[in-house]
Amino acid sequence: MKKIVIAIDGFSSCGKSTMAKDLAKEIGYIYIDSGAMYRAVTLYCIEHDLFDPDGNIRTEALRQHMDEIHITFRIDTATQRLHTFLNGKDVEEQIRTLEVSSKVSPVSALDFVRHALVRQQQDMGKDKGIVMDGRDIGTAVFPDAELKIFVTASPQIRAKRRYDELCAKGQKASFEDILHNVEERDRIDQTRTVSPLRKAEDAILLDNSNLTLSEQKDWLLDQFKRVV
Ligand code: C5P
Repeated sequence: MKKIVIAIDGFSSCGKSTMAKDLAKEIGYIYIDSGAMYRAVTLYCIEHDLFDPDGNIRTEALRQHMDEIHITFRIDTATQRLHTFLNGKDVEEQIRTLEVSSKVSPVSALDFVRHALVRQQQDMGKDKGIVMDGRDIGTAVFPDAELKIFVTASPQIRAKRRYDELCAKGQKASFEDILHNVEERDRIDQTRTVSPLRKAEDAILLDNSNLTLSEQKDWLLDQFKRVV
């Protein structure tokens, strides 16, 4: 069976990663969470004092540091979960905190950050057989992807899912803070100059507000079968 590239884009916390991960597992493809890469760069900025006291990025300093930021992925064999590594250290938990979520969108709006990460992402997909999720996968990373999906759901539903996820992990969270963060990230992601979040013309739209995980999984598998 021919191998293809599957691009899954959409708004913050709309369940793209879960869908993408499930599909990749089912069809034996590699799964890459491109958002984790932007989160890892943001964590690096926090750890290296690259935000000034007002919370603004020290852009020129970050530019100098870019060559020292190495992001890799590894599957945890016990849980079968994909973990993100920043310069060899497992940062999977740290990159999911609300602090990183609230700082990641301005970092990912920087052109030199995007250029560096997009190049790595394209390299990861050069042999196809990959499912990648993010904001610009179908528009900028893999504009020729054979299957493109654009996922959306209402901000309230997305914030509730994220809230439940953090609570399940035992992290302290306020629903209002999360809703604000989801809406703010959508705004910055859609209005940035470089590769703003938008649906590729040839992407299939999925509003999953009222779909169960299993319904989404079946829907996505159907889309895949139509293409291969
Ligand atoms: O997917 P996730 O919500 O973890 O992504 C975190 C942030 O990374 C997004 O809010 C967005 O600002 C940025 N991002 C991006 N381009 C991607 C993936 C994520 O700009 N391809």
